[in-house]
Amino acid sequence: MPPATTYTMLLMHIVGARPNFMKAAPVRAALEGCPTFTQLIVHTGQHYDDNMSQVFFRDLGLPRPDVNLEVGSGSHSVQTAEIMLRIERVLLEHKPGVVLVYGDVNSTIAAALVAVKLGITVAHVEAGLRSFDRSMPEEINRIVTDRIADMLFTPSQDGDENLLLEGVSPDKIYRVGNVMIDTLLRLQGRAEERWPFLPRTLRLPDAVPRKQNYVLVTLHRPSNVDESAYLARLVETLTDISRHLPVIFPVHPRTRERLRAAGISVGGEQLYLVDPAGYLDFQALQKHAAVVITDSGGIQEETTFLGVPCLTMRSNTERPVTTSLGTNRLIGSDLDSLKLHVRRILEGERPAGKRPPLWDGHAGERIAAVLAAHFASRDVDTATKT
Ligand code: UD1
Repeated sequence: MPPATTYTMLLMHIVGARPNFMKAAPVRAALEGCPTFTQLIVHTGQHYDDNMSQVFFRDLGLPRPDVNLEVGSGSHSVQTAEIMLRIERVLLEHKPGVVLVYGDVNSTIAAALVAVKLGITVAHVEAGLRSFDRSMPEEINRIVTDRIADMLFTPSQDGDENLLLEGVSPDKIYRVGNVMIDTLLRLQGRAEERWPFLPRTLRLPDAVPRKQNYVLVTLHRPSNVDESAYLARLVETLTDISRHLPVIFPVHPRTRERLRAAGISVGGEQLYLVDPAGYLDFQALQKHAAVVITDSGGIQEETTFLGVPCLTMRSNTERPVTTSLGTNRLIGSDLDSLKLHVRRILEGERPAGKRPPLWDGHAGERIAAVLAAHFASRDVDTATKT
């Protein structure tokens, strides 16, 4: 009898921006050793600074990307188009059987669009989220990616409902839970080990931070940082808050640039602007904050999981489970309301929260199981012979 031939299919993870890395890590780990797939990581280079990219690969234990497209910054069209041009060559060369895209960044939509037109199966991790705010570039990325992807992995029930309402066939939808929480749970212990070193790492005074005794801030969305007058008032408000409690603000490069361009000087009181933190340092900071102020999507989820009060400087969220079940509250752009909410929380009025179902550390494994079952039943024509 001839020896049995083994077939493995090439599975390509496409990552590009900071919020992608912690989502891809658990899926890659869960697929390791799965005989159906050989894995490859492609980094688009959308985020390229060490503290926006490489530090995450180190902290998360992700292997170096097999391919880096090095697209860098640009307008949305330039960045998206550049990723499309460069990734097409990589897909044609490597001929993956399936491409995994994550979240809602420009790299997600660009890779999905090229892959699907080459007839490659596209799986979207973190599908179905909707803010219903089309002025957010990420909302457009979510809608289009979900529309063209073949397999949709959702983190929560609202994701399934949104997709069904848009007419997506139920057999494409797999509710697997939240992959970011897989990473958070896996690395909680290592993050805690960083706590004593934070003053040195973040160049803060030794007495800062103390547990439950500081406010943590991250803001980078156009709606908060692009308009100079509003940004100036926001900084003023944070300075006010810092008269009561230290405020630690790891500043995204885009926000740093807007502050510089608007000539806004920051300093005084206890408002500390620091460089963007790595994954483990940020988790340590987040866990022990008295309150978090943010406009990020992922941080709304992580604070809900950790039970830390979160005030979101947006009027909508694509993660409604964080406000219905979790500790997140939407503040919009009202800075007086922000101050009031911070004061209430510091006086002890902390929102009670519950962890959403399937945010349990096993979402990556569920994705791996679905993919293995799906492709095991496929014709070997779509696979690469080894
Ligand atoms: C992107 C995502 C956003 C996510 C955020 C997290 C899209 C549409 N948006 O927004 O959903 O919340 O990442 O960080 O994809 N820059 C650097 N170094 C870097 C990366 C960026 O200096 O390593 C600067 C550049 O000036 C760049 C600007 O930041 O122009 C914005 O970067 P970009 O990737 O275009 O979008 P983000 O605002 O980071």
